[in-house]
Order: sequence, then C-alpha cells, then structure tokens
Amino acid sequence: MGREMHLIAVGNLGPTAYNMGSWRHPGDPDFLDSGVWEDLAKTLEEAKFDALFFADGQAPADEVAPVERGGLVWLLDPVPVLTNVLRATTHLGVAATISTSFFEPYGLARMLGTIDYLSGGRLAWNVVTSSHDAEAQRYSMDHLPGRDARYARATEVLESCFQLWDSFPADAMVVDRKSGEFIDRSKLKYFEYGGEYVQTRGPLYVPQSPQGRPIIMQAGASDIGREFAASFADIIFMNQFRPEDMREQCEDMRRRLVAKGRSPDECKICPIIQVSVAETATIARERLDYVTSLIDQDAAMSLMTNIMGIEPGTFSPDEPLDALLDRAEPRVVGWANAFKGMRQARGDSLTIGDAARMSCSESVQTLVGSPEQVADQLEDLFERSTVDGFVVDGPVRPGSMEDFCRMVVPILQERGLFRSDYPGTTFRDTLQAGVAA
Ligand SMILES: Cc1cc2nc3c(=O)[nH]c(=O)nc-3n(C[C@H](O)[C@H](O)[C@H](O)COP(=O)(O)O)c2cc1C
Repeated sequence: MGREMHLIAVGNLGPTAYNMGSWRHPGDPDFLDSGVWEDLAKTLEEAKFDALFFADGQAPADEVAPVERGGLVWLLDPVPVLTNVLRATTHLGVAATISTSFFEPYGLARMLGTIDYLSGGRLAWNVVTSSHDAEAQRYSMDHLPGRDARYARATEVLESCFQLWDSFPADAMVVDRKSGEFIDRSKLKYFEYGGEYVQTRGPLYVPQSPQGRPIIMQAGASDIGREFAASFADIIFMNQFRPEDMREQCEDMRRRLVAKGRSPDECKICPIIQVSVAETATIARERLDYVTSLIDQDAAMSLMTNIMGIEPGTFSPDEPLDALLDRAEPRVVGWANAFKGMRQARGDSLTIGDAARMSCSESVQTLVGSPEQVADQLEDLFERSTVDGFVVDGPVRPGSMEDFCRMVVPILQERGLFRSDYPGTTFRDTLQAGVAA
C-alpha cells in the first residue's frame, strides 16, 4: 500500500483565517454560531478528515490590526466551542490553539486533559508562544518576552504538562464499591517540577484519556521553534510554497526528530494550503479572485506590516517587494519565508501592495482547479515534497471545505491516497495508522 495523506481543516472564530476576503462573501455563515462548526465537523467526519483545527490569538495588535475592516481578530475562545464540536462527532480530531506564554501548566493540563478524556481521546493542542505585546498586556505584562524566553517557558510548560498527563493512569481508578477502594494510589506518579518559569507537582487529578495525552501541534519556523517542535510535536505545520522548500523543511525536521531520539514518522509534517475547487477550473479561479477583490488595500497593507513587525507607513504600496524583504528585519521568520515563496512563485515584479493583498488572500500555497486538477496537484505535491499531509483552508466558508469533501476526497480515496475509514477511535490512532509501534 502506498502512503496515505493526513488532512486537517481550518476553522476560525472571527472574520478571517487565511483569506481576508472570506467574511465579505455573501455566503459566509454566522461564524459565531457554534452550530456552523458542528455541521462542518460532521461533513469533515463523513469525508474521514483527520481533524478540524481552530487558529487563535488572545487579542489583535490594536494600533495596527485593521479590525474595523475585518482584519485578523478572534471573537470567541476556541476551547468551549470545540467541546460542542467534539460532542457533535465521534472520530474527528479537534484542535485548539493556546499560548504557553500566559497560562500555568497545571490549569492547562487539567482543562485539556478533561476535554481529552471526555472526548475519548480526540483533542489536540496547537501550541503557540504568541506574537504581540497587545496579547501580553492582557496578562499582567508590559511586553511579550523575546522569542528565546518564550520558547524556554514553552519548553517548561510542555515538559510539565507531559509529566502531569502521565501521572494518573486510567487503571488507577478502581471505584470498587464493595471493598471501598476508590483510587489505587500506588499507580499515581508523585513528582515535583521546578523550572525557571513554572513550578508544579503531580499527580494531576484527571484520569488519562484513551490516547494518553492530547495530540500536540506546532508551527515553529525559527531554529528554536523547530527544535521545540522536534521535542514535543505530533504534527508540525509549515507555511511553504514550493515543493522543494517543503521537502527541505521535512528533511530538516526529520533530522531533528531523530536527533531527539524520536522516529521520523512519529510526527506528521503538514503544510498549510488553500484550495479553491469547483466544477470547472474557470469557476474555481473566478471564485478565488472574487474573494480577493473584496479585500481592502489599506487593511491589507496594515495587516502585512503588522505581521512582519514593521512600523506602519515605512513602505509605500508601489515599492518593489524586495525593498521590504531587504530593509526590514522580519520578526516572524515563517512569514518572511512565505513572502519569498510568493515572489518566487509569481515572478520578481511584485510590489509591496500586490504582496499585501496576496498576503491576505494567497498567503499560503493555493491550489485552484477542477476536482481532477486539484487531486492531481495534491498528489504531485504530496509525492515531490514528502510531506505527510495538508492543513486545508478555502476562500469561502464553509462552502470551500464542503466542495473539497464532496469533489476531491473521493478522487483521493480512489487513488489510494486517502483513507476510506478511521482506523480506530482516537486522534492518535488516526495519525499513527501504518506506523510501526
Ligand atoms: C499553519 C500555521 C498556523 C498558525 N496558527 C497560529 C495561530 O493560530 N495563532 C498564533 O498565535 N500563531 C500561529 N502560527 C504562528 C506559529 O505559532 C509560529 O509563531 C510561526 O510559525 C513562527 O515561528 P517561530 O515562532 O519559530 O518564529 C501559525 C503558523 C502556521 C505556519
């Protein structure tokens, strides 16, 4: 049997995910209605998707994020929403994005361990370290700590959460009404975790879920971010445009996994892609272009400079993109890579204004075409890049994902590139199918 891909869909509890025009599409649903996400999750589960992932941030960078024009802002906390989504499904994995920079590990492990237990082992945590002072200022800090300090804290949070999740094996619950024994204390793991940033102790009083602990997702692009991902992640996201760049990052990550004593196939590496699929390639292209045309140019410039950590007004939209890449010291390596990829994919003549609009509509590898064409592009990308699967978004919510499930998934299944059923009941079962124990 050939390799099968993993597929994860993107959800977003705000106006925009990876395409800033989405919310202005006349078909955009009430994204603050949890029922919208529950229905999408059922569609994804019917198609045997691995998971639905909710991106998140604590607060927009208020002075630059164009929230009044539907820029990047999240309006509901994903955790309560995903508990509804988990109740509406039986096999689909569901992932919340939570920052390690603001919360204590015991509270995180307890909350996430509880949801994982209740869902029968279908929870994932997309671990981020946050990116703005505006987020930190909501949590008793003046500034967000620098990247090294953020990842040092994240490492301690994850190390301690892992120990906490391992500290209460499910069989420690005895509940023998006859003998009166409730918990077998000898099975609990008592430990103290004393880090520089966080201190806690075990056991965590939440019985282990059937998948042991939540699945960990991470999208570090910097060297330290990649090291962190290699230590803890079960799924690694990336934002790359060209198959050769995806392949290089896969090779780099697999080397890092082995150096940490892990098996290279223990962790699934998935680039984010946007898919616009329709009955014909022309309809698919028109749909994407229509959504892009709904994006406000000023808002796009503001959002791009915000993401790159550049003072607003530093660049004019008419300057060539190179000016920005050469002169600015991008704060976020992943996004700088994305812009470089965009320039290479589209030719060198892009202006900063072009890149700004595209950064809000095609900021990730974008596949456009008929069902057969999209399946061909996916197959080609999957083979050439050696990635393990894809995080899939679309320009129209929830229509693009429904189209993908209805039109593309059956072709992938026919070609033996995607599962036709779930191999087990937990998210870890879905991820690890075919991997030798
Ligand atoms: C597909 C993808 C999804 C991401 N989702 C989020 C998110 O929801 N919230 C967030 O704060 N950061 C998100 N990030 C940013 C990453 O967590 C990370 O900060 C970024 O890739 C830069 O890596 P670095 O921190 O090592 O520089 C995402 C990145 C990628 C590639």
